[in-house]
Amino acid sequence: MKEKILVTGGTGYIGSHTVVELQNAGYEVVIVDNLSNSNADVVDNIEQISGIRPAFEKLDCLDLEGLDAVFTKYQGIKAIIHFAASKAVGESVQKPLLYYRNNLGSLINLLELMPKHGVEGIVFSSSCTVYGQPDQLPVTEEAPIKKAESPYGNTKQINEEIIRDVVASGSPIHAILLRYFNPIGAHPSALLGELPNGVPQNLVPYLTQTAIGIREKLSVFGDDYNTPDGSCIRDFINVVDLAKAHVVAIDRMLEGKQEEKVEVFNIGTGRGVSVLELIHAFEKATGVKLNYQIVGRRAGDIEQVWANPERANKVLGWKAETGIEDTLRSAWNWQLKLRERGIQ
Ligand code: NAD
Ligand code: WQD
Repeated sequence: MKEKILVTGGTGYIGSHTVVELQNAGYEVVIVDNLSNSNADVVDNIEQISGIRPAFEKLDCLDLEGLDAVFTKYQGIKAIIHFAASKAVGESVQKPLLYYRNNLGSLINLLELMPKHGVEGIVFSSSCTVYGQPDQLPVTEEAPIKKAESPYGNTKQINEEIIRDVVASGSPIHAILLRYFNPIGAHPSALLGELPNGVPQNLVPYLTQTAIGIREKLSVFGDDYNTPDGSCIRDFINVVDLAKAHVVAIDRMLEGKQEEKVEVFNIGTGRGVSVLELIHAFEKATGVKLNYQIVGRRAGDIEQVWANPERANKVLGWKAETGIEDTLRSAWNWQLKLRERGIQ
């Protein structure tokens, strides 16, 4: 068994897939999650896939004493992967204080406790949202950080700064900031996936809910952008590929291979796919015809963004492997499984 890793938000969408990959790679995992956006039965599904039941503590990362007790209970935690955060862009505009409190407070608590408990490093879930609309595409890690479009996006920028400031102040920790592009899809077993709360805001959950008949029609927000087919372009990254990026980041950190105490990596495919292309890829992959219509633009949307993932390819030795059709098929199988389980 390799080192012990604390995964905050480990029952969430990306966290749960990452716990599976960490366990597959031999790491011992302790999950902390307050279940504000996930369910405890995810732990059963992780166990079913990987054959190992991770330790699970239902706890809010804002609870400093509770977190302190977790580090004491599970002696020898070597690194943290910090997923726990509130992540709905629209809600963050309505409830900025909730977002600032949760997303900043959780990180601050962890950073405060790390040296005390000998935790060597933290992998942080950042986002391509920090780039806004980049001046050059594909976007590299050197691109300037643009003014955030939402309080949520701002918490990612501030979190990155907090980590840099803490390291610069002489804290003995290391950090790896992973800037995810657009994570989609589900585990091939259909035992893990994204479980949106209420009406989905993101494209793929809305699309699969439309395909299965929960929603009547998918609205495509705009076909008058300056892109080949007029719809927006994103870099859709398979969630299992994304999960694997965390494992190689942890390997690098714990093997002492980091060249800088804070390293940043884009985690994307390097390929831009438009909203309309994605719809057609879904139809092709599943044979299901999708009811959609073009409507006006959505406020705050970036026209086009995709990653230059070369640094992650070279330095981490990580590459996105799964094609868009396989990924969309996995999202569809997950949606079908949810129906089978009577969840949605
Ligand atoms: P998610 O909501 O599925 O997972 C987050 C988990 O954190 C949930 O299980 C939730 O219950 C838990 N949580 C929230 N606040 C907590 C707290 N204070 N204490 C303990 N647990 C708490 O979201 P996700 O899509 O898996 O995202 C994971 C991380 O990746 C987040 O930090 C998110 O901002 C970031 N991210 C996500 C995307 C995306 O499109 N999904 C893109 C870029 C970055
Ligand atoms: C993708 C494209 C929409 C829904 C958000 C956050 C970002 C990051 C990932 C965390 C856009 C279009 C969508 C629909 C549509 N999260 N769309 N109809 O906006 O790229 O990024 O999630 O860090 O911070 O902002 O993702 O899935 O919402 O949209 O046409 O019903 O799909 O306009 O072009 P987005 P998304």
